[in-house]
Amino acid sequence: MKIFSGNSNKKLASKIAKILHTQLSPVEIFVFPDLEKRIRIQEKVLGEDCVVVQSASTPPDENYMELFIMIDALKRSGAKTIKAVIPYLGYQRQDHIFRDGEAVSLEVIAGILERVGMTELFSFDFHSPKIPDIFSVPVHHLSALPKFGEKIKKDFDLSRIVLVSPDMGGIRRIKEISEFLGNIPYATITKNRNLASGEINDSGLEGDVRGKIAVIVDDMISTGKTMVEAAEILIANGGIKVFVYSTHPVFARDASKLLQHSKIERVVVSDTIDVPRYNLFPKLEIVSIAETAAKALKSSL
Ligand code: R5P
Repeated sequence: MKIFSGNSNKKLASKIAKILHTQLSPVEIFVFPDLEKRIRIQEKVLGEDCVVVQSASTPPDENYMELFIMIDALKRSGAKTIKAVIPYLGYQRQDHIFRDGEAVSLEVIAGILERVGMTELFSFDFHSPKIPDIFSVPVHHLSALPKFGEKIKKDFDLSRIVLVSPDMGGIRRIKEISEFLGNIPYATITKNRNLASGEINDSGLEGDVRGKIAVIVDDMISTGKTMVEAAEILIANGGIKVFVYSTHPVFARDASKLLQHSKIERVVVSDTIDVPRYNLFPKLEIVSIAETAAKALKSSL
């Protein structure tokens, strides 16, 4: 299996390659003065199983474009299979029409990926379990939750914690992790968003967090506002401390500052997205999902 990496998450790609006892295969990504890119696969891939690792993190359009062209280059070079590892699948929140006149952006992305030659998709913790239905090729929906579950077991006395979903959409995820931890109790923040601006309109709490350490589990942190507000609600409702576990550290705008200066004690994320240096902060801890991705790739052969 030959593993190639785009520019968005080389660290993760190298870790996956190492676990699979190989190295990243060379690819030339040349940037023209107008920022167009020319991509050239620098190794023979005829008849080979090939993997491309590229997260659709910020800037998503640029990272996707690089991935599309890499897949095209692999197809034109005769690769037998092209497995795309897109640890964070950008545009997944636009997976259906919310208001008249909107596009289904994820369907556009899926169409291009398949058109250029992706034969399988490997990705982590989708926002909605229906996302694989958008693709016609096999989708391996992997998760950071087992890693988080193990860590929560190590980090806390389970009798002192309550799991929290920061919105109604995350209850499935919370039930899964609660079961993994022996059916420990959970609560849910109820939140309403303005569909046009994405701003949170109002929030409340269902469930009891009094005297407990609240452990919020979610798929992604974008602006950080959901987590920061959730932490305030939990403390206001008698929670004694708040910890956050979230798969995708999107960290848009000043999310890292908001989180660092919030009531949250620690923010645990995975490396589906490579957090740039300027977004690192003391309360942040990163766990790797490389092993999970490597295992899934190996068993797909
Ligand atoms: C929403 O439903 C997701 O699960 C996340 O809670 C949301 O995308 C986080 O967004 P933000 O960090 O901007 O509040």
